[in-house]
Amino acid sequence: MQTYKYEIFTSIIEEQIKSGVVKKGSRLPSTREIKEKYHLSISSVQSGYDYLVMKGWVENVPRSGYFVAINPKDSVPEHSLKQLPATKDSLFNKNIELTSTKSKSFEYNSFNAASPTDILIPQKLILRKMQEVIREKGASLLRYYPPNGSFILREKITYRAAQYGCRMNAEELIITDGALQGLYIALASVTKAGDLIAVESPCIFSVLEVISNLKLKVIEIPIHYKNGFDVNYLRSICDENPIRAVVVTPNFHNPTGILMTDDIKKELVSIAEAHQIPIIENDIYGDLYFDGTRPSCIRNFDQTGLVMTFSSFSKTLAPGIRLGWLNPGQFYAEAERLKFSLGRSVAPIYQELMIKLLESNSYDRHLRSFRKQLEKQAIELLDALRKYFPENCYFHRPQGGYSIWGELPQNLNMEAFYEYCESQRVLFTPGNTFSLTNEYHYYFRAVFADRMASESILSLEDLGGRVHEFLY
Ligand SMILES: Cc1ncc(COP(=O)(O)O)c(C=O)c1O
Repeated sequence: MQTYKYEIFTSIIEEQIKSGVVKKGSRLPSTREIKEKYHLSISSVQSGYDYLVMKGWVENVPRSGYFVAINPKDSVPEHSLKQLPATKDSLFNKNIELTSTKSKSFEYNSFNAASPTDILIPQKLILRKMQEVIREKGASLLRYYPPNGSFILREKITYRAAQYGCRMNAEELIITDGALQGLYIALASVTKAGDLIAVESPCIFSVLEVISNLKLKVIEIPIHYKNGFDVNYLRSICDENPIRAVVVTPNFHNPTGILMTDDIKKELVSIAEAHQIPIIENDIYGDLYFDGTRPSCIRNFDQTGLVMTFSSFSKTLAPGIRLGWLNPGQFYAEAERLKFSLGRSVAPIYQELMIKLLESNSYDRHLRSFRKQLEKQAIELLDALRKYFPENCYFHRPQGGYSIWGELPQNLNMEAFYEYCESQRVLFTPGNTFSLTNEYHYYFRAVFADRMASESILSLEDLGGRVHEFLY
């Protein structure tokens, strides 16, 4: 088990909170005090406090410092205690800011939001189809649709999936408000607070948020550059621990862009069967392949219903179209109940819009040019990173999806690097966002969702040329 420098103080604070030595709501030592007492760098102290905030023991009150959380995530709230003013989770807010398209991103060379930019969204097509839907359906769009979604839409989705070997019945699907809701429902259907799950590592922050919201404990399983996933490690973990679910993105994983091989997909199914563990597969990037044909899903190899698959149209059409789907396999009944409690039905207008796009083949026609454009952007960004950054930096070539995973030298002052990026108005997503540990401190994600302007290339050239200035 890897240990981090900050554990010197986080383990003590965690113990003091659990045993009640420090009271809820009380102020914790400042980062400077911790730095001096334990001879740590400010960034290690910051990471340690971020870790305690993520675990729910500590709250950060902007400009006031760190406090013991009033309601630590796994304890019963005590209403008699004096309440602090409502606070914001600084780490959550930071991550949201880093991974969203901010309004100021127009002034930035933004390599951090993994979804279609305005220029890649087929706006004319979407607006035209929406107008047709409104004309044809009128007031019926203002009613409730079934909680599991329009049957016609579910049929269209299953018909499309069958073309890449993913056999499903319309009756097995639940239409969701985007992919993240599908993940939430899938996980909540098969786990309860305190359960242990395995998750791919690195892992996108939004998925980690769902996991932490459900109060699950996590073992991170490394992604494998060659075949997509360290199944041997997963097998040993499942032999020794009560794992309740495994969460993976087999096709063009975010942030690495890696495609899991069919052999590994089959191995995952065999581990699921041997241990009766549900595999929750996120297929949100499956349609965004750069070479060959549409890859298979893990579901293609499943006979037992232990595989739960979800996806959405956020990455292929537009993130504002809040429409995804979940096939919860043998856990349908629980999943359907959960979907109902999270929102009576997904907006009918989006459901009808997707029916129109799928029945006229417009979606697949759009995807053909969309994939080509994404691949072009991927090559341009990868070439620039490899050309301008020093040789001891590594950038992984994605097989599809939206992002390039970069590794920088271990003697780089990452805080100074990001500060300089910000000053040059360049936005990357820091590696720490992709794990509950500090494992990816020296990594970052560069997203190629936008066309590469000559100005962006110049910024990368400047950044790459300055990396040596940030070495310790
Ligand atoms: C891997 C992954 N899953 C899920 C999501 C969220 O998808 P949606 O907007 O459909 O909820 C994202 C994008 O943020 C993602 O990268």
